[in-house]
Amino acid sequence: MANPSPRRLLPLLSAPRTGGRDAMTCRFRCGDACAHEVSNTSDNPYFGDILSGTFSRRGALRAGALGTLVATVGVAGVAGAAVPAAADGGRGSSSGHGHGNGHQSGLGFTSVAPNSADALTVAAGYVSSVVVRWGDPVVPGAPAFDFDHQTAAAQAKQFGYNCDFVTFFPLGRDRGLLWVNHEYTDENLMFRGWTSGDTAPLEQIRIGLAAHGGSIVEVERVGRTGQWKLVTKGSRRYNRRITAQTRMAFSGPAAGSALLRTAADKRGTTVYGTLNNCAGGTTPWQTVLTGEENWNQYFVGGNGVPEAQKTYLTRYGISTTTAIPSGNRRFDRVEERFDLAKHPQEINRFGWIVEVDPFDPDSTPVKRTALGRFAHEAATTTLTKDGRVAVYMGDDGRFEYIYKFVSKDRYIQGYDRHNRDLLDEGTLYVAKFTGDSPAAEIDGSGTLPKDGAFDGSGTWIPLVSGKKSYVTGMTAEEVLVYTRVAADTVGATKMDRPEDIERNPVNGAVYVALTNNSNRTAAQADEANPRSANMHGHILEIVERKNDAGATSFGWSLPLVCGDPADPSTYFAGYDKSKVSPISCPDNVTFDAAGNLWISTDGNALKKNDGLFAMPVSGPERGRVRQFLTVPFGAETCGPLITGDQLSVFVAVQHPGEITGATPDNPSSHWPDGGASQPRPSVAVAWHKQGKKIGS
Ligand code: FEO
Ligand code: CA
Ligand code: CA
Repeated sequence: MANPSPRRLLPLLSAPRTGGRDAMTCRFRCGDACAHEVSNTSDNPYFGDILSGTFSRRGALRAGALGTLVATVGVAGVAGAAVPAAADGGRGSSSGHGHGNGHQSGLGFTSVAPNSADALTVAAGYVSSVVVRWGDPVVPGAPAFDFDHQTAAAQAKQFGYNCDFVTFFPLGRDRGLLWVNHEYTDENLMFRGWTSGDTAPLEQIRIGLAAHGGSIVEVERVGRTGQWKLVTKGSRRYNRRITAQTRMAFSGPAAGSALLRTAADKRGTTVYGTLNNCAGGTTPWQTVLTGEENWNQYFVGGNGVPEAQKTYLTRYGISTTTAIPSGNRRFDRVEERFDLAKHPQEINRFGWIVEVDPFDPDSTPVKRTALGRFAHEAATTTLTKDGRVAVYMGDDGRFEYIYKFVSKDRYIQGYDRHNRDLLDEGTLYVAKFTGDSPAAEIDGSGTLPKDGAFDGSGTWIPLVSGKKSYVTGMTAEEVLVYTRVAADTVGATKMDRPEDIERNPVNGAVYVALTNNSNRTAAQADEANPRSANMHGHILEIVERKNDAGATSFGWSLPLVCGDPADPSTYFAGYDKSKVSPISCPDNVTFDAAGNLWISTDGNALKKNDGLFAMPVSGPERGRVRQFLTVPFGAETCGPLITGDQLSVFVAVQHPGEITGATPDNPSSHWPDGGASQPRPSVAVAWHKQGKKIGS
């Protein structure tokens, strides 16, 4: 039986390592990535170098040319920008019915105060409920959840652990499908007495494999409200679990490459499973894109790979000197392919964007190699002015990069046989940012430069187009498999952990959550990453040239530099800081129909619970951050999604109770079921009691 004790008595064994994230989250989420060396040791410039004259003459000339461009593109005129013709794939929040009025946010709720409650707390006037929990039956016939008697066979049919990205496909007005990512497992909270993967019973390791991946579940509206609940009876013919063992295909230019071949797959075209699925996106042809993020932590035997491969492993944060990294889940104990000493190329088969058709439960998920391989956070789509598909992607690591893919062919509405291969051919770009203020004015303190803004211009540098590489010394296949190395070579800008990136359906600007980077030094501060030891992160706004997602140049600015508003290094777009909510570690973003930016956080370094916030990006309220909800103790807020009718907001409550020292016999959270229950990562929905729009 559980033996709960009040969470305040829990020993906090170690300090948070990055942002405010707990050490247990660091261990299970990303294999203690922040405790390791920064894996980007390339000498490509922080762009401060360009302006301080240490960069090449050619680079300086390029910077000069772009300085002209920023005057043309500008970044301040966002409010008046035209509504882009594109949808971002029918995600509820982006259905394109913008108001076209950049000055009325429509936001009227009262901020939720920062707190440490073990509860989902929503703004006054709103209510919330849990839609689906870890262990709830997904596939018809799945057994009910039984914490103390869990099996791998049951888990493979039940909702997975640690829900992250959420997207919604309406099936009429009152039914729909939810896709949910399951980013990682926390065995320490899933199993009593668990100590390590080295000694865990093999069945527990198999449960871990089955609790990764994603879920598709059918949901239905409750009455006429904004509440949604799981459909638990009837055919549920779309319901599906995808796990770390589901058969998948490779497609695109690197499919079949020698770099993807293994003993079990001599053709390099078939792979089993997807790992550490963080954020994602939805295509206009109604499929899911899911990003494989911290997949590097699942392998052992990095010390045993051929010498030539070691450089690449290091660049992707994998130890080449250790046989078994500490804290490893030891998937290799049940599947030998996770041992790189025996199967050195298996790791090249993870780190991709995976496309899943939620409407065909028998379909084979596809790893789209044209989108490159890195720690994929998200992949959000939009259409270019000429109708091609652009996909924005972040590589979530300290000093990693921002990418964009633009398809070769146009999207044709309703012609899915054509559309479904659009992501196999196109150009992959990486972003380079240039500031417009003198480097001497960017000192790492967060003090605004004399022109009053962290802003500038940028370019999308092409890396690869189909079988054509733009990177000297690398083939197209190498660029796609070792994308980080390719991006180092062309001088991309090192960012403060790029997380979610999404295009605003109303003003067409692109918003990037840069979550934090405690490793940046003052000397490394640049105008797009202006704070050293950046604990709280910032939001980057990109305005593509001519507001066209197909452009290869852009203007940018930072509307939000996060933290406690009393901290002088913060910036809320010039809005009165006495009237905003503290915000720390932005992670996922979405938009409402008025184009307001909604931001969820992960790892609040202000020592309060994470939450969901809303901020207008235009008009007199630009920068007015308000907290809409807080998640329970130990949790982060993921996957915010506002439905197209604006009546509901879904959030994934990931890792409730994940606090160092917590175990099933000593839980630090009892959310969502209360009493003496174990914490269960769950998707929740919030709505207004009187049926008003979310945020009003
Ligand atoms: Fe899984 Fe970058 O957060
Ligand atoms: Ca500036
Ligand atoms: Ca994330």
